[in-house]
Amino acid sequence: MHVINGVEALHVRLSGMGTVAFVPTMGNLHEGHLDLVRQARAHADCVVVSIFVNPLQFGPNEDFDKYPRTLAEDCTKLEGLADVVFAPTVSEMYPQRQSVFVAPPPIAEELCGAARPGHFRGMATVVLKLLNIVQTQVALFGKKDYQQLHIIREMVAQLNLPIRIIGGETVRAADGLALSSRNQYLTATERSEATFLRQVLSNVAQDVVRGVRAYPDIEAGAVAALAERGWQVDYVTVRERATLTLPQPADKSFVVLAAARLGATRLIDNLEVDIA
Ligand code: PAJ
Repeated sequence: MHVINGVEALHVRLSGMGTVAFVPTMGNLHEGHLDLVRQARAHADCVVVSIFVNPLQFGPNEDFDKYPRTLAEDCTKLEGLADVVFAPTVSEMYPQRQSVFVAPPPIAEELCGAARPGHFRGMATVVLKLLNIVQTQVALFGKKDYQQLHIIREMVAQLNLPIRIIGGETVRAADGLALSSRNQYLTATERSEATFLRQVLSNVAQDVVRGVRAYPDIEAGAVAALAERGWQVDYVTVRERATLTLPQPADKSFVVLAAARLGATRLIDNLEVDIA
């Protein structure tokens, strides 16, 4: 496995390597990331993982400075799974002040975008840069970040990028909590409470399956249940799966999405639901 920091060196390394499957990450890798890397192997001759904490997608009061940077451990975990790790510096990715950005679709202002202004613009911009740098045919993203995956699919489709996007299922801890690099910010008490978020999503999903269609009522009940236990809720919402818009009567495929804070830590999760 080769660890490469420069764009030019990456191009040299990848020339003649055949098809590429690419997993972009911000590092501090866990099983959720590694599952995507393992899946990537089935899609190409060469698996590339990027590790880059992208300043452009963090707000001024967010955790960019304290985001865990663990490159050596990450490389150990990737040994035998990836062929190339691309770990650029900020100045390699942004050699000049970035003044060209991807304008994401309007959904980027809702859900997580409402609490994190500019986040999806910064995310989409770095993903487009990385896709261009790695020149991949296939890229894999987790459903854990459902809105992110949706925006990337829209970007790829609407900008005609010749890349296949694959969405990986969310990998969870034994107690159901979705794995996230941010889980380590939780205190022991918060960590045991954190599983309640999935419980709430699953209660909402059960209501939808049972035929309840008063979504605002179910959502308000879910928000109240979380708030009662000390969570600060950004949103709990039922959306049509392919568009992330509000459900219409004929819709059959949904996703329940939630974001809420426990103490200083913001957690997100989602659950897909189908009705007959
Ligand atoms: P990061 O949070 O490091 O996540 C990298 C990839 O791993 C994303 O596609 C994310 O959805 C996926 N992932 C994270 N936790 C997961 C889990 N529990 N199960 C399955 N997949 C999981 O998302 C980003 O980085 C950045 O925004 C990035 C796309 C790299 C752009 O900077």
